[in-house]
Amino acid sequence: MGKKEYYSNVEKVLITKKQINKGILKAAKWIDEKYTDNNDLVLIGLLKGCIPFVGQLVTNINRNVILDFMVVSSFKGKEKAQGKPEIVTDINTDIKGKDILLVEDIVDSGYTIKYVQEYMEKRKPRSISIISLIDKPEGRKVDLKLDYACFKVPDKFLVGYGLDYKEKCRNYEFIGVLKKEIIEKGDI
Ligand code: IMP
Ligand code: MG
Repeated sequence: MGKKEYYSNVEKVLITKKQINKGILKAAKWIDEKYTDNNDLVLIGLLKGCIPFVGQLVTNINRNVILDFMVVSSFKGKEKAQGKPEIVTDINTDIKGKDILLVEDIVDSGYTIKYVQEYMEKRKPRSISIISLIDKPEGRKVDLKLDYACFKVPDKFLVGYGLDYKEKCRNYEFIGVLKKEIIEKGDI
């Protein structure tokens, strides 16, 4: 399959590879400047969408971090997150007294990340903050403090750089707007 054909699910490229790289460098700098003492910092990535973002982010941070992951299902393969999120796989790090940074690919309604934040708060970390590669502020349905977002975008369905449509397109090097026909058809 040629590159052109393989990318043909996308109406347009919204954020290029170059812009993503630059955005993540800035985010790593923000982390360096925010966490300046020696308390343990735990980055918790929400699988699977966080993978490219967290991978590139950690290699640009200039302090020790502990990496952990969780699987939270909220999406059920549909375009809009619905219902109550469910913790499918939990972290195995003891986070009591530690600084926690939740790492998301995209925050839309905010239900998913808010649920995870409240869930983690019960374990008495020293702090919990949230970083997301993408923020769709128009979609917000809960009161949420998103501490850092690399890019703010309009309310369109996006794929690439971790973001999927029915588990596909996560490996695109850019972030693009999914073609309307594909959502109408319901498949890639
Ligand atoms: P929220 O709970 O509505 O904030 O949704 C968050 C989750 O929905 C994210 O972790 C993504 O998995 C998924 N999601 C939201 N918007 C998009 C999108 O435009 N493309 C792909 N996945 C999305
Ligand atoms: Mg996700």
